[in-house]
Amino acid sequence: MTMIVSLNRLFLGMVALFALAGTAAAEPAVFDFNRDFYPFYPSLIQWNKSNVPFTPPQTCGQCHQQQYQEWNGSVHSLAFLDPVYQGELNKAVKAVGHDITRQCEGCHSAAGMVTGEIKGPGLAGLSPMALSGVSCDICHSVSGVTHWQTPSHEPENGSLILTTGGQDKPVKRGPFKPSPECGGGFHDCEQTSFHLKADLCASCHQVYHYDSHFPLEATYNEWKHGPYAQLDILCQDCHMVDMKTFREAADTFRKPARGEYRHYFNGANYLLTYLSAGAAKKTGDQQLAKRLMAQYDMAVERLKSAAELDVEPVYRNGGLAELRVRVKNVRAGHNLPTSLTNVRQMWLEVTARDEKGELLLSSGTVQPDGTLPDDARLFNSDGMGKDFHFAVDPWVVTSFSRHDTIPPRGYKDVFYGLTPPAGVKQVSLEVKLRYRQADQKVAEALLGAVPKDMDLKAIYGLDKVPQLPIVDMVVKTVAVRVRK
Ligand code: HEC
Ligand code: HEC
Ligand code: HEC
Ligand code: HEC
Ligand code: HEC
Repeated sequence: MTMIVSLNRLFLGMVALFALAGTAAAEPAVFDFNRDFYPFYPSLIQWNKSNVPFTPPQTCGQCHQQQYQEWNGSVHSLAFLDPVYQGELNKAVKAVGHDITRQCEGCHSAAGMVTGEIKGPGLAGLSPMALSGVSCDICHSVSGVTHWQTPSHEPENGSLILTTGGQDKPVKRGPFKPSPECGGGFHDCEQTSFHLKADLCASCHQVYHYDSHFPLEATYNEWKHGPYAQLDILCQDCHMVDMKTFREAADTFRKPARGEYRHYFNGANYLLTYLSAGAAKKTGDQQLAKRLMAQYDMAVERLKSAAELDVEPVYRNGGLAELRVRVKNVRAGHNLPTSLTNVRQMWLEVTARDEKGELLLSSGTVQPDGTLPDDARLFNSDGMGKDFHFAVDPWVVTSFSRHDTIPPRGYKDVFYGLTPPAGVKQVSLEVKLRYRQADQKVAEALLGAVPKDMDLKAIYGLDKVPQLPIVDMVVKTVAVRVRK
């Protein structure tokens, strides 16, 4: 009797379990979403399909030469060609299945995704439009955003609406009241409110987990909750201007004049522009190589102007006890570093020596195999998966176990114990704030995973992944007295 009852219970329990599993498959795991509203889910992009196809940037460039030349060589122009992206995409498909590619491509090549042209990782056989990444006709076809209807109720995963035209003629959208000759017969013009707002950038600069909507990258939110947003200094005011104008906007909150905007979209990615310049030289396109190297120079200069360091001795009972290093984010409009914070590395390297040059303290020195020692004080984040274990891949990471970045105009203090042996009177310090795109092993894994049709040797001349270059954002040498 009891046996039957418990079997019965077991059976009912199993029915309940199956029912649960059934709902779990049909319903989103964490936040609600509406698949009719977001037909390209997990990308949240929307597309008003019409007879007007997407126009490749080369066509726009026939009439808008200046914008074309500025954009061509930007990280936006490389967003789909990027071998690091292609490597990660290839890994994503293997790990999660093909559906996840819509999420990635909605931001990295929106036109190639919505038209269904891109079928997966790789570049072979794709049209110039699909290869052109974040191109003219993406941004200037944006007719609206759905930032508040998203699963997280924040901008995320490409929450913008693309409308290339009316039924038959292209309509390009921009921030200004169109002149009568606008479009030169090729397109009509429409004024929008959000091309001069950060909302345009927000849709793609908020990368959320494809299923649980955890904010993996939240550059827009970091900006929005900081002082630059309050003072109306937008993404465009630092990233769509030359370096001098960027510094002025960051330092004095001066809004650039209309004629000062440039389509550079320059950020911090010096590795990609450097590799791509090598590729352009191999194909004999010296002009493109030059523009890419100009982007490289700007990114390095931007990193070098983002932060400042204060180094102060701390005395106890009249004797040197500690060193305080204050890292200040002085010119990044969002946290420093931002975006892929669980991949980017920004850290302090500190060395202290006595009068004879004997080493008293060393922290954060890169090891011969390219990795960082455990004691390195890093400013970035550690991702973890649902099992609470360390993870890097964006389809696994659903929270951060450590998120240690520096807010805009904010700072972080780091203390180093330093009590020199008797007889030492003065200590020489070298403190560096260093940056690289990724950990050596992570970079090797990503570049090692590029799809078969992308030959890194043929395109970039790479035999193996070189030791990743490091940018010294700030270097400070100071001498401090041991007795106060
Ligand atoms: C990431 C989004 C984005 C991309 C990609 C982009 N633009 Fe723009 N564009 C903007 C924004 C924002 C403005 C307004 C800022 C400004 O220039 O005042 C703008 C302004 C313009 C203007 C108005 C005149 C001017 O320069 O101020 C033209 C024309 C233009 N873009 C053409 C292009 C062309 C051609 C391309 C491709 C080669 C392109 N854009 C790529 C965002 C973009
Ligand atoms: C919401 C838009 C968006 C989505 C969705 C998205 N990305 Fe990105 N991705 C970005 C932006 C913006 C950056 C640049 C951030 C930065 O510079 O740190 C980026 C950078 C990257 C990079 C670093 C490239 C480099 O050269 O360092 C990789 C790799 C990458 N994405 C892969 C993916 C993959 C794979 C997916 C899908 C699983 C994906 N992305 C989904 C917007 C997106
Ligand atoms: C046949 C020439 C021609 C082509 C091709 C062309 N445009 Fe234009 N466009 C113009 C002219 C002329 C204007 C008005 C003068 C100006 O602002 O530069 C204009 C204005 C614009 C503006 C400014 C709108 C505003 O806010 O005032 C944008 C944005 C723009 N075009 C985007 C594009 C994009 C994106 C493409 C490619 C899909 C493109 N154009 C292709 C001729 C052209
Ligand atoms: C359609 C999606 C999309 C839109 C809209 C967009 N971006 Fe991006 N942006 C990307 C992607 C994807 C990347 C990274 C490509 C890569 O690293 O492979 C990127 C890269 C960048 C970078 C270079 C980052 C680096 O590491 O150097 C800057 C700067 C940038 N975007 C600024 C902007 C600004 C400013 C706007 C708004 C005017 C904007 N973006 C709008 C998708 C977008
Ligand atoms: C006050 C100037 C300023 C403003 C405003 C600003 N940025 Fe930046 N941005 C910087 C600086 C400086 C860096 C280089 C340091 C760093 O990586 O944070 C940077 C870096 C970046 C990067 C590269 C990150 C990487 O990992 O390679 C992206 C992407 C970016 N910004 C996007 C944006 C977007 C989107 C906005 C608006 C929501 C914005 N920025 C607003 C100054 C600014």
